[in-house]
Amino acid sequence: MAAMVEIIPAAPAHADVMAALHAMAFADPALSGPAWDAPAFAGFLATPGIMGFILMEDGEPCALSLWRQVLDEGELLTIGTDPAARGRGHGATLLRHGLAHLRANGVARVFLEVAVTNTAAQSLYASQGFTNAGRRRGYYQHAGLSIDANVMATDLT
Ligand SMILES: CC(C)(COP(=O)(O)OP(=O)(O)OC[C@H]1O[C@@H](n2cnc3c(N)ncnc32)[C@H](O)[C@@H]1OP(=O)(O)O)[C@@H](O)C(=O)NCCC(=O)NCCS
Repeated sequence: MAAMVEIIPAAPAHADVMAALHAMAFADPALSGPAWDAPAFAGFLATPGIMGFILMEDGEPCALSLWRQVLDEGELLTIGTDPAARGRGHGATLLRHGLAHLRANGVARVFLEVAVTNTAAQSLYASQGFTNAGRRRGYYQHAGLSIDANVMATDLT
């Protein structure tokens, strides 16, 4: 039987779930630095203009996304899938869902930063229409590593 997938909007009460998902998704410290904890997510989710989503598969949370909107500009703050649930289309589903949500809110252009070493995420973003729009030198500084970020962007209009 096909798994049931649903996406729910995250409220501050979901901070623990978001933090647990983020810790699983970003367990590799080379990806983007330390995982954000529950108080950090509670703060994000209580901030106007920031919105989060949790993808549930058969009732289990297995992927998250977090976005920021300022006027007609959007930013993907983070996205991640539990390693045990990767390769099933959840990242692409969450990305499409978030972009549709921002478009409906009047966003015209969406940006994100991704480590130049993170080829999986870059492929995911390219598959949903993002193209390279710049580079930030030494954007990720963690565990003695200094990794450049690619800025990627897509138009929603
Ligand atoms: C990037 C990430 C979110 C992808 O999640 P996912 O649920 O496995 O992604 P999907 O199954 O929806 O894959 C969608 C597309 O992404 C790309 N992709 C995903 N994983 C990939 C991999 N390991 N290698 C290359 N491309 C990959 C492919 O284009 C894929 O499309 P396809 O299946 O038709 O080939 C996941 O690997 C992750 O959580 N990584 C750690 C956290 C992270 O790096 N987040 C982004 C920070 S900027």
